[in-house]
Amino acid sequence: MIELNMIDLRSDTVTKPSKEMLDEIVKAQVGDDEYGEDPTVNELEEFCAELLGFEAGLFVSSGTMGNQISLLNHTNPGEEVITSSDSHIKNYEHGASSFLSRIQFRDIKNIDGVLDEDDLKQTIEDSKIHKPKISLVSIENTHLASGGSIVPFDKIKSISSLAKESELKLHIDGARIWHAILEEKKGYDYGKYCDSLTFCFSKGLGAPIGSMLLGTNEFIENSREYRKKLGGGMRQVGIIASAAKHAINKREELLHDHEKTLYIYKKLTEIREKLKLIDEIEYKGTNMIFLFFKDITLSNNFLKKLEKRNIKAGLIKKNIVRLVLHKDINKEDLDNIVETISHSSS
Ligand SMILES: Cc1ncc(COP(=O)(O)O)c(C=O)c1O
Repeated sequence: MIELNMIDLRSDTVTKPSKEMLDEIVKAQVGDDEYGEDPTVNELEEFCAELLGFEAGLFVSSGTMGNQISLLNHTNPGEEVITSSDSHIKNYEHGASSFLSRIQFRDIKNIDGVLDEDDLKQTIEDSKIHKPKISLVSIENTHLASGGSIVPFDKIKSISSLAKESELKLHIDGARIWHAILEEKKGYDYGKYCDSLTFCFSKGLGAPIGSMLLGTNEFIENSREYRKKLGGGMRQVGIIASAAKHAINKREELLHDHEKTLYIYKKLTEIREKLKLIDEIEYKGTNMIFLFFKDITLSNNFLKKLEKRNIKAGLIKKNIVRLVLHKDINKEDLDNIVETISHSSS
């Protein structure tokens, strides 16, 4: 249980629904979504599809469900999916792909989630003899493992052409896609360049639950079937779709999270020489900062010191502490965060 005055920087999934969001939930128009009769869900699916240039959308319970349904749609068992070695779809979905679609992943070179096009071409070429058929490329934007890096939209376009030339499908794990789109101010027509895309209402956008899966009408029709098979068919789900609708309408506010993150990053850089225990500080332009320590003992001690002063942060790869900014961190908290980091790492 997190104490009320705790500043929680572990993830952007820890946000609580706002009063306005709760008001929307209470007012939501609902119906049985299994009959396609929930007006709030229907409106949300159509709105999101139009927003990103797709034919149709499907409201699913989580990013994992959206990603896994995409794999089920685009692949056959035994085939390969090209992705980066540290992608969420490969590493952090509890092995769901080996259990459900029964594909295997092939990693290619990447920098901060941007797939290397030469390596992609070579990998496709090499797959022609003695290798499984490659059916899909999956890109994660923003890229979680590197600290929320943006995969530039122009890169998405060129990888899309490459995939098309080779008759491969392209999926975007866009759990945090709005961070990229709003920052780059482009990428609203993703539907032209990829076959499917998932984004989450519960990461940074502030909804308690829900993700959107987007694709062609046929893809979404099949996805509805897969969602049901996975036990994800829902009923009067306008209750939660109304929270998601509120969240997506407030998406521009994500840019405040970037401002808050940049503020902390700049302040830490200014007092860099005081932060004796921290080896490196990384900021990749959205809502996360990574602090690198020499070893796990130092990073664990640092986390304990933060917690004593009511700040929680997350540990990545043992020696890397992650700070994630989100809507529930107020501007007034920022100097306190910087001061506490300074105190705990000198
Ligand atoms: C990049 C990325 N993709 C997919 C997911 C899965 O989302 P969920 O936790 O809603 O299943 C996450 C969750 O953190 C994520 O960061």
